[in-house]
Formats: sequence, structure tokens, C-alpha cells
Amino acid sequence: MTPANRTLIVYYSRSGTTARIGHALAQRLGADEVTIQDQRAQGRVSVWRAALDRLLNTSPPIAPITAPLENYDLIVLGTPVWGGRAAAPMRRFLKDYGARLPAVAFFCTMGGSGAASTFEDMQARLGKPPRASCSFDARALGTGSYLDALDRFAMQLNGDAHPPPSR
Ligand SMILES: Cc1cc2nc3c(=O)[nH]c(=O)nc-3n(C[C@H](O)[C@H](O)[C@H](O)COP(=O)(O)O)c2cc1C
Repeated sequence: MTPANRTLIVYYSRSGTTARIGHALAQRLGADEVTIQDQRAQGRVSVWRAALDRLLNTSPPIAPITAPLENYDLIVLGTPVWGGRAAAPMRRFLKDYGARLPAVAFFCTMGGSGAASTFEDMQARLGKPPRASCSFDARALGTGSYLDALDRFAMQLNGDAHPPPSR
């Protein structure tokens, strides 16, 4: 089955920030979106559980992803930064589904630091570089100044998803 949209946004969000960006990006791109769910959690995963997963480097089982991943042209992966790495459920997603992913792009949200190491870790787990990446810190998210970066990222991705016809 070929999806109607050619770009899919896949994100994990414990407390809603990454979901906010993922959803806004999907709207800008007219993309489909899928959220990664930690199967242990009824509601929000506690900060203690998240910190423990980061400390022990464990990754929880996630709900099955039914979207036809390999049929998209581009998959944009979004995660909060946890201790300078992708959040545990995103690491689990990369482990379970990484081999099925076409071209990828990354975004992350964070308090203030750790984007570069997070993207490096995701790239190493996937074995391929992202076409583009973008990070959003708490200060920018708090003031609304992230919107310019979001628009630029969306334009960059739009160019990738709909490249000009070759001559
Ligand atoms: C366990 C844990 C570890 C975190 N580690 C970092 C970090 O290393 N650097 C940082 O800037 N923010 C860190 N944060 C803050 C989150 O990355 C930030 O609040 C993020 O926007 C939350 O996204 P969410 O609301 O989608 O879950 C951490 C948060 C948690 C819960």
C-alpha cells in the first residue's frame, strides 16, 4: 500500500513538547504522523522511570507501529533529549524498525544541550546520516522564537520530499 502523503513524522514525547513540534511539522508538510508509545505506561511515563532508562541504557517495549514505513520517501524522527541521547522509546524504535526506514531526518527538543550527541547516536544506530536535522531548546520553545527554525526545517524537508524534476 502506498501512503497518500510521502513524508511520515514519527516521534516520542513523554511530556508533550516533542509532540507539539511533531504535530506542527506534520501540518506544515501535510505529512502523516505516528507517535511511539511506551507499552509499560498507562499515561505519562514518570520522570524517574525515564531517568532510570537513561541511566541503565534500557529501552522499553513499544506499541507496534503499523504504518507502512518502507513506502514513504522520508521519515522524520523526533525525540526529547535524555542525558545527551535519544529517549529510550525512540532508541527502541530504531532497534526494532531501523532497518525498514527509507531516508530520514531528525529533530529533538531539550532543556538546553545534547542535540549533537543525540543526533550522532541516532545516526550510529541507523547506520546512515539524516538528510536534515533541527533542535529546539526550552528557551526558544518558551518564547515562540522556535517558529522560524520550524518553518526553515519544514522548507528544507519539503524540498527533500518533493525534489525538482531532473532535467
Ligand atoms: C530523563 C530525562 C533526561 C533529560 N536529559 C536532558 C539533557 O541531557 N539535556 C537537555 O537539554 N534536556 C534534557 N531533558 C529535558 C527534555 O529533553 C526536554 O524537557 C524535552 O523537551 C521534553 O520533551 P517531551 O515533552 O516531548 O517529553 C531531560 C528530560 C528527562 C525526563
